[in-house]
Amino acid sequence: MPTAHLSFDSFNTLSDEVCHQRIRAARAKLGQRAVLLCHHYQRADIYQYADLTGDSLKLSRLASQTDAEFIVFCGVHFMAEVADIMTPPDQKAILPDLAAGCSMADMANRAKVERCWRELNDVLNADEMITPVTYINSAADLKAFCGEHGGIVCTSSNAPKIAQWAFAQREKILFFPDQHLGRWTGHSMGIALDEMKVWDPDLEMGGLSVNEIRQAKMLLWKGHCSVHQMFQPVHIEKFREQHPDGWVISHPECRFEVCTKSDYVGSTDYIIQVIKEAKPGTRWLVGTELNLVNRLAEEFKSEGKVVQFMSPTVCMCSTMQRIDPQHLAWVLENLADGHLVNQIKVPEHEAALAKLSVERMLAVS
Ligand code: 13P
Ligand code: SF4
Repeated sequence: MPTAHLSFDSFNTLSDEVCHQRIRAARAKLGQRAVLLCHHYQRADIYQYADLTGDSLKLSRLASQTDAEFIVFCGVHFMAEVADIMTPPDQKAILPDLAAGCSMADMANRAKVERCWRELNDVLNADEMITPVTYINSAADLKAFCGEHGGIVCTSSNAPKIAQWAFAQREKILFFPDQHLGRWTGHSMGIALDEMKVWDPDLEMGGLSVNEIRQAKMLLWKGHCSVHQMFQPVHIEKFREQHPDGWVISHPECRFEVCTKSDYVGSTDYIIQVIKEAKPGTRWLVGTELNLVNRLAEEFKSEGKVVQFMSPTVCMCSTMQRIDPQHLAWVLENLADGHLVNQIKVPEHEAALAKLSVERMLAVS
């Protein structure tokens, strides 16, 4: 492979316009060797380059189906990890900015989950009685933990189906890292709120009594998304006062009270579909990330649909936002020049176990 690799410093100060020219040139040079996957939350100036777009479930399927040499993932770290886990070693997953993480995914880690499992084992036989379910928004080693302990991965679009599968294996679920998705999933399956207990990883025994653990059907890890927690029931109440004919749709990462006040709850793909199929002239309040809501507002304006963001304050997925024209130009030019940069590589043993839990999910959904 020729010449020394280009450092990011030389791209950091380039104007957006220059970066866009260089992105286009590098893509032309790479041709079919690189495929660009974008999550719906990706900023517009990057989203325009997407070959494939989707929610987390769709993107994990698409990543496993492409045969491109470079999978350039414009999303966050766990998404690029899934792409790596699901593809053979000659395909490389690239994350344009390594700092594009997910703050929710960071709320659980292997050491804390293992400690939780040990503590649960002091009360009951965890491996016989509990199915661990990890939201796809989690590090690969937690997916590996699920693979190892008969557990499974879920996304926001298949969580009830996955939970059904999990209950068919064992009588309880340990759900991490998003308590809100876990609670909404349990509620939609008819599980009472007092049968779902929050496990606080910073407290001994999760802050629960032996009785509470024994009686719980679901243990919900105390984690949340910093973007979706901004949406409040009062935002919906105000909207309904002003627009009694309006509709409310939210992502299941929103708090329970927001979900129960919404007309529809579902993944980003679901939100797009519902608004797309809505009658012209309808008005929508949407509880999910701002880049997606802005895109929907723009796309459906011509049909007379009004799409508005749920929170009065701006809240974006600031980590996904880090993938900007400078970083994209930098990785693509390096790849086109034969330099592999920002590869996301999950250790082999961990990847095999993580794959098991992702494959269980894909088979169930
Ligand atoms: P989706 O499953 O809808 O893609 O959601 C992923 C996510 O991170 C939402 O915050
Ligand atoms: Fe993670 Fe929240 Fe960003 Fe989704 S919106 S990727 S859960 S930080």
